[in-house]
Amino acid sequence: MRFDIVSLFPDFVAQVAGHGVVGRAAERGLLSLTGWNPRDYAEGNYRRVDDRPFGGGPGMVMLIDPLRAALAAARAADPAPARVVYMSPQGRPLDQAKARELAALPRLVLLCGRYEGVDERLLAAEVDEELSIGDYVLSGGELAAAVVVDAVARLLPGALNDAESAAQDSFEPPAEGEGGLLLDCPHYTRPVEHELGAVPPVLLSGNHAGIARWRRQQALLRTWQRRRDLIDPATLSKADRRLLDEALAEAGLPPSAGAQGAA
Ligand code: ADE
Repeated sequence: MRFDIVSLFPDFVAQVAGHGVVGRAAERGLLSLTGWNPRDYAEGNYRRVDDRPFGGGPGMVMLIDPLRAALAAARAADPAPARVVYMSPQGRPLDQAKARELAALPRLVLLCGRYEGVDERLLAAEVDEELSIGDYVLSGGELAAAVVVDAVARLLPGALNDAESAAQDSFEPPAEGEGGLLLDCPHYTRPVEHELGAVPPVLLSGNHAGIARWRRQQALLRTWQRRRDLIDPATLSKADRRLLDEALAEAGLPPSAGAQGAA
């Protein structure tokens, strides 16, 4: 998969994406990442990339032409059709389903704004969608773009080793939910006994089915307790519902059906 980053700080995104799973995927040839700096396409001695907003107010707005030329260069670098995504807090929130959708594309162009924003006409003409990584404001789209690259790259076939893939599979959405996911279960390593506590005995049992059941139950319980918005008890499978209710009963909490509507 080909990623193109249009940004005043393209190296920043490449740096962030150069480590760990993403770096390894790039080394394996599963993805490439190319930066395009609108300043390289700006005119005049000062190579201006921004100007004051019409209507007044603080901050600067990124000019149409340098961004447009950088985008054109990025598009022309490969014949495959490019999805152009603008990183912005006004965008649709990124989730695992969106990451999966993007990972199926041959290429992705991520447009990063700085300052107060980008001239709306450029966005209307060139951008396919806007994506946000959360309800907070960053100083620019670069960190958000790095988040998208990471979330998408790890889904590319061959990016994760077997152990990592298996860990990910166990947190794929409950059967019915396309977009949802369960939070991860707790993890333990040596020593078995520690002054901070003991490892749950089931993990030492060698009973693979029992371990898988415990992990699923812990994931359900945690998601229910921490992120109830991710679970709709009505769409859980019967088995998951039973696991969750068993864990809730053990913890002295009301069953999932009874708590519906409560947050
Ligand atoms: N740029 C600034 N803030 C952002 C956010 N929350 N998500 C995506 N891009 C951004």
